[in-house]
Amino acid sequence: ALVSMRQLLDHAAEHSYGLPAFNVNNLEQMRAIMEAADQVNAPVIVQASAGARKYAGAPFLRHLILAAVEEFPHIPVVMHQDHGASPDVCQRSIQLGFSSVMMDGSLLEDGKTPSSYEYNVNATRTVVNFSHACGVSVEGEIGVLGNLETGEAGEEDGVGAVGKLSHDQMLTSVEDAVRFVKDTGVDALAIAVGTSHGAYKFTRPPTGDVLRIDRIKEIHQALPNTHIVMHGSSSVPQEWLKVINEYGGNIGETYGVPVEEIVEGIKHGVRKVNIDTDLRLASTGAIRKFMAENPAEFDPRKYLAKTVEAMKQICIDRYLAFGCEGQA
Ligand code: G3H
Ligand code: 13P
Ligand code: NA
Ligand code: ZN
Repeated sequence: ALVSMRQLLDHAAEHSYGLPAFNVNNLEQMRAIMEAADQVNAPVIVQASAGARKYAGAPFLRHLILAAVEEFPHIPVVMHQDHGASPDVCQRSIQLGFSSVMMDGSLLEDGKTPSSYEYNVNATRTVVNFSHACGVSVEGEIGVLGNLETGEAGEEDGVGAVGKLSHDQMLTSVEDAVRFVKDTGVDALAIAVGTSHGAYKFTRPPTGDVLRIDRIKEIHQALPNTHIVMHGSSSVPQEWLKVINEYGGNIGETYGVPVEEIVEGIKHGVRKVNIDTDLRLASTGAIRKFMAENPAEFDPRKYLAKTVEAMKQICIDRYLAFGCEGQA
């Protein structure tokens, strides 16, 4: 059944687990996520970005998610809009049937320029007002994602700020988090603790100074009833980087957010964990390997089936690690 995010996150908080929120752009990702959830009996959050809507078209995405609900009626599914750049975008998604929206007012409508606190509150409060009027949950974001050491916001062509950011912008303060929740009434709060979008998060395995799980604990202490969201939470599996590079790819040395660190966050109020890059890496690795090993094959179903298998394993691993098994 299609459910609101609030319902799932309240359940997750009550039972001390966290939910991966996987980005979805195509049939193969949708199948991987649902087959994995079905296998371990986990609830599902699928999210569509502006890029996904551009790629697949909003009606196709909507029906892909509705198809998942139809095929797996026993699994609760949240249809979430990721990184809405304005209240208008969120409103259109609600009209399309999304049960949850993110208003990302940490950046201006260009999705690149960090905004003022007042701008963020106004945009987010507006979205909370019209969303709650129709039973739709809202995620807001305070702080700007970026690498605390280099000041880089992440991949150049992806979602995120452009140019160098200050340490303060990239690390959400307890004070701002408390004020923002009070001023907006969001259901879930995305915070910045050193993660960033894409594959290039950390130049070495992250230590406590660049991945500030301690800040999550402080924010959770101050806001025990707020569901915390971690963006940029792909773990960037080294084994998939190896497969990609072994079969003709070229991805430089890079590290993601270790699953153990996410699990530590889940012990301290993290309820939604955004993952996109890991499924992209697994998918790319699986295709490269299959193509190299089967040069005469030309049925797309053959190599796309390999991507489903690879992504499904990542989904199962995250559902199990985050404590979702049997929670559907
Ligand atoms: O927020 C970032 C997600 O990874 C979505 O990325 O805009 O390329 O679909 P995208
Ligand atoms: P990753 O790039 O780490 O997968 O993050 C995805 C994300 O935060 C989507 O909103
Ligand atoms: Na989101
Ligand atoms: Zn994100």
